[in-house]
Amino acid sequence: MEAKNKTTFLNPFSLGIDLATGDMPEATNHLIRRASDMKGYYLNENALEELIKRDSDPIHYEVFEIPVPEEYGHLMYCISKLFPGKIGEEYFFTKGHYHTVEETAEIYLCLKGEGYMVMKTSDGKSEEIRMERGQMVYVPPFWAHRSVNTGTEPLISFCVYPAEAGHNYGDIKEQGFPKRIFEKGNAIRII
Ligand code: F6R
Ligand code: ZN
Repeated sequence: MEAKNKTTFLNPFSLGIDLATGDMPEATNHLIRRASDMKGYYLNENALEELIKRDSDPIHYEVFEIPVPEEYGHLMYCISKLFPGKIGEEYFFTKGHYHTVEETAEIYLCLKGEGYMVMKTSDGKSEEIRMERGQMVYVPPFWAHRSVNTGTEPLISFCVYPAEAGHNYGDIKEQGFPKRIFEKGNAIRII
């Protein structure tokens, strides 16, 4: 069989994912975001600069994947691993994005760690949903999403989404999300 309706024909395959650690040994794509890639995202710019200098621009988060064709019908899947820490009082987070094809959803199954999925829509709605091992978050179409690590170990999730979705980092660097998550007086505060 050849491609059908512009969807590339593939043979079935399987791969291993260590559910305790999130390791996906056969991953061929490894995306690394370092602290310096996060300039402009956190409230306390000086604290980010200090971290970059002190720890020689450490890895902030990474994504492991085995790509499939970015076409309607296929499903992209990956492991997202966000390290723990704070910039000033603000917990480490991923940049966050809309999907370029806005009407595409995503599933995050949390394998390790704890935190929140922070979400917003372009017309002002906002949600923050707790993430912990064994908890699945459904990010519906139209919702920009960012994960935040409020724990002490890496926040690791298995993500699945339509392969044609694409990533639109859009206004997030300038506008952020309606809510940020801080540690204040030893408590997690969503403000
Ligand atoms: C894919 C997805 C995740 C993120 C990853 C990194 O649609 O939502 O795999 O891409 O957690 O976050 P960003 O892309 O916001 O830097
Ligand atoms: Zn996404």
